[in-house]
Order: sequence, then C-alpha cells, then structure tokens
Amino acid sequence: MKRIVILDPISDDAAKRLADETGWAVEKRLGLSPDEVPANVEDADVLIVRSSTKLTAEVIQAARRLKVIGRAGIGVDNIDMEAASEREIRVINTPGATTTSVAELTLGAMLSLARWIHAGDASVHAGEWNRSQFQGFELKGKLLGIIGMGRIGREVARLAQAFGMRVVAHDPFLPGKSVGGVPLETMDNVLSRADFVSLHVPLDDESKGLLGRDELEKMKRGAYLLNFGRGGLVDEEVLADLLDRGHLAGCALDTYATEPPGATIDRLRDHKRSLLLPHLGAQTREGQIRVGMELVDAVAKAVKRFMSDRTARLAAEKEEAEAAAAAEIEAAIAESTGGSGPVAGEGAAGPGS
Ligand code: MLT
Repeated sequence: MKRIVILDPISDDAAKRLADETGWAVEKRLGLSPDEVPANVEDADVLIVRSSTKLTAEVIQAARRLKVIGRAGIGVDNIDMEAASEREIRVINTPGATTTSVAELTLGAMLSLARWIHAGDASVHAGEWNRSQFQGFELKGKLLGIIGMGRIGREVARLAQAFGMRVVAHDPFLPGKSVGGVPLETMDNVLSRADFVSLHVPLDDESKGLLGRDELEKMKRGAYLLNFGRGGLVDEEVLADLLDRGHLAGCALDTYATEPPGATIDRLRDHKRSLLLPHLGAQTREGQIRVGMELVDAVAKAVKRFMSDRTARLAAEKEEAEAAAAAEIEAAIAESTGGSGPVAGEGAAGPGS
C-alpha cells in the first residue's frame, strides 16, 4: 500500500483529511533524530515535514519510493531541492498560509522592543517594580526598513503604516521604484537610515550570511534588528558584538542559524536588549489550520495526478506489450511458413476459397 509519512507535527485533522483524500496509509513518525530519519523514510511515497526535519540528499536517496514532499510552511531551506529535482520529486509548500501570523508577531516584537514588554514582564515576574528602568518610545514616526518585500514583508509594511511608521524597503528581485506605496531603496540606504530593520527573505545560497559584519556595522547607531525570516541570514556572533558595543539598541530573533540554538546564542541570551523567541512565527491556530488545508489540497492533487499518470502509463505499457506479443506471433508464423503468409487451412484466404 502507498504510504504518507508525517515527520513533523501537523494537525490530526489535516492528517485525517490526507488519508481521506488520497486513500493512502498515513503514519506519523515524529521526534526522530537525524540519524533515525533515513530508515524511517524507506517505505514513504509522500513525506510531510515542517522546519525541524532536514530532508538531506542522503534522506532523499534513502526514500526510494518518494514521489512528493509536502512542506507544511513557507521555507524550503530544510530540503535538498537539487536532490529532489534530480529524482523528479515534487516539493509542495504553503507560501501564503502564515503571512498574517508572521507579520503580526513581527509587529508584536517591534512593540515589545520599543516598550520593554518582554523585560518589564520578566521583571514583575521576578518580584521587582522598576518603572523608571523601562522607559520606551513610540513606533509612530519611526522608520522601518524591510529587507524582502514578498507576502510577509508587504504585510509587515501595511501593519507598521497603521501604527504611523514610515517604511522603506530593499528587494533586489522587484523592479521599479516602489511596491504598494513603499519606496524601494538600496540595501545600504535601508541599513543606514532605518530605526528598525526587519528581514523577510528566504534562506538560500545567495542570502546565507546576508547581514555579516560589514552590513550590520552599516546599520544606524541605536537601531534594532528583527529576524523573523531564517537564522542563517544573520551572523549571530557579530550581532552580539554590536549589542555589546551599544552600536545596536536591541534585536528580536525568532529563527537561529541552528535550531534549537544551544550555546551558539549564549551571548545573545545574556543580553537584556535581545528578545528571543523559539521559532513561533507560524505558530498560530489560524495559521496552522490554513497550512493544513492548503497542504492537504495540494498533496492530494499531486497524488491524484501521480495516480492518473501512472494509470495512463500502465495502460500504454499494456498496449505496447500486447502489440509486441502480436508482432512476435506474426513473426513466428511468417518464419514457419517460409515468409509466405498464413498457413492454408488455418484461416488463409487462398485463391478460390
Ligand atoms: C515556515 O517556513 O513557514 C515556518 O518556519 C514553519 C514552521 O514553523 O515550522
């Protein structure tokens, strides 16, 4: 029986709908260590992942029956796309399902950085009462620089404008001078002018290390960095240096170069000016319902297309095999009659018959 293996959590409802829509067996194999993944994908025709499980070339090679990968979310940086494409494996993601979730969280983080919401809360929880320590500022009138004006970047811009922020953006893939009323500028211009810089670009070979030392040092003194895209976009060590030096006033991170991050972000953990979240961007009820629905629809469609292609291929193969068998019989007949056609008395329509 064909099998869909779910490697990262998706809702029970989405898993059930996957089984109903495809008629294939659906199995959850969650919480596997990277070493355990290859042996657990050998019998999979479809794999479903979020961002935790890495579908490396080795894993894809081990999944000999694999036809479709469903990525419940936006980023496909945890999938070796080259290995998938070499095997003609379809990779399906849900690019629009969590736009609002990520954009709202980005705004929430910006508000928290401006008003010390995270630190004020931790302080009261710790039994303190330090009102004077937490003087903040208003977002209204501040300049937000968005790097990456895809779906999420544009929604962040819209929400920020509702707070009265001014917005500029950088996106090398967009033509023209503006998008949705937001001026497009060079990366240097955005970095050097913005009070908040927010990253909303996917992680790939080109964007890896997008903000290294040179770029982070170009940021305006006293500015804040937000990364709700992917961890590998920012050099975390350099970011910690710039916070230590007071060049940057603070940062909010939801994604890290490695997840879970471990000791690599210890310097950021120690910093009271850093707001650190455990990759919560897409983690809303509504977002995950949309992810489930979109993913199930797209995977079921791909499975049905695969099955109808397979039926057509099997029918063509059957027709070809029948034609080859008929040709073989004709050749045998021709050989036994010395090439003179059908044997008399066996249906041969000879002269006068
Ligand atoms: C995404 O790329 O949509 C998210 O990172 C998915 C997730 O939260 O696992």
